[in-house]
Amino acid sequence: MALLEVTGITVRFGGITAVNDASLSAEPGSITGLIGPNGAGKTTLFNVITGLQAPTSGRVRFKNADITGAPVDKRAKMGMGRTFQRLEAFGSLTVRENVQVAREIHAGPRSWFSRRSDKRVDELIDLVDLGRYAGQRADSVPTGVARLLEIARALAIEPALLLLDEPSSGLDEAETDAFGRLLQDLAGRGTAILMVEHDMDLVMGVCDFIHVLEFGRVIARGTPAEIRADRAVQAAYLGFSDEPAALSVPDEVAAEATAILGGHAAAETTLSMPAVEVESR
Ligand SMILES: Nc1ncnc2c1ncn2[C@@H]1O[C@H](COP(=O)(O)OP(=O)(O)OP(=O)(O)O)[C@@H](O)[C@H]1O
Ligand SMILES: [Mg+2]
Repeated sequence: MALLEVTGITVRFGGITAVNDASLSAEPGSITGLIGPNGAGKTTLFNVITGLQAPTSGRVRFKNADITGAPVDKRAKMGMGRTFQRLEAFGSLTVRENVQVAREIHAGPRSWFSRRSDKRVDELIDLVDLGRYAGQRADSVPTGVARLLEIARALAIEPALLLLDEPSSGLDEAETDAFGRLLQDLAGRGTAILMVEHDMDLVMGVCDFIHVLEFGRVIARGTPAEIRADRAVQAAYLGFSDEPAALSVPDEVAAEATAILGGHAAAETTLSMPAVEVESR
């Protein structure tokens, strides 16, 4: 049994099926990617895992317990840390205070006497390399710093599972590289990481295993190499028809697709494949 086991999750919003019978798992010491085009259902599935969204059907198991109906705070106490697609730090507090508040909430009211001496706050700030920003207000720091602050806050609850929704958005290339190393470091210490991410260089570079969502369904799962080679994934990202209409996809989608497929060779292969050969799994 994996640390996190998500089985057959469906989420309907009125007539929209945002997540359709999706299953995935995450393991300690491993970085799992959840990718897919905009609107594929990634954030909705994340919210089901963290308890912000009740599924229409399906089960979520964490640490061998069925937590499908458990509230958000119970999941956090069990060791689920998360960041949000939109940054959610307390703007009027400093970077250090943000981490400290997260520690205090985690530790509970009886630990008030240990506030000042919580060395872990400084360790966490060092871990994400934000020492020089520690005294600055969270609403005055650059996006890259705010992203790292979110990670430090999520780590403040000492999570067994860290859930990250588009953690690299707003980071430049050097920051993204450093961030990738941080994730590998955390996984190396045994944390399970599940990450929704659009930066395919990051995903392909750090993930051990990837699940691909399209229209709410998991259409492929495998190692980065397997995902690059997967025809259903190529179709999901490039669009598919007998016409070379796939070339008309928006630039950012094409860039993501090219990154997944590893450049021109794969993209040309995709475009020459007839639509009938593409099967969803
Ligand atoms: N609360 C909601 N009510 C109604 N529809 C919703 C709600 N939340 C999401 N949706 C719809 O569900 C689908 C999946 O959305 P979701 O945000 O999960 O996608 P995503 O894969 O995270 O996309 P992105 O890459 O843009 O973040 C979309 O069609 C979206 O419009
Ligand atoms: Mg999303």
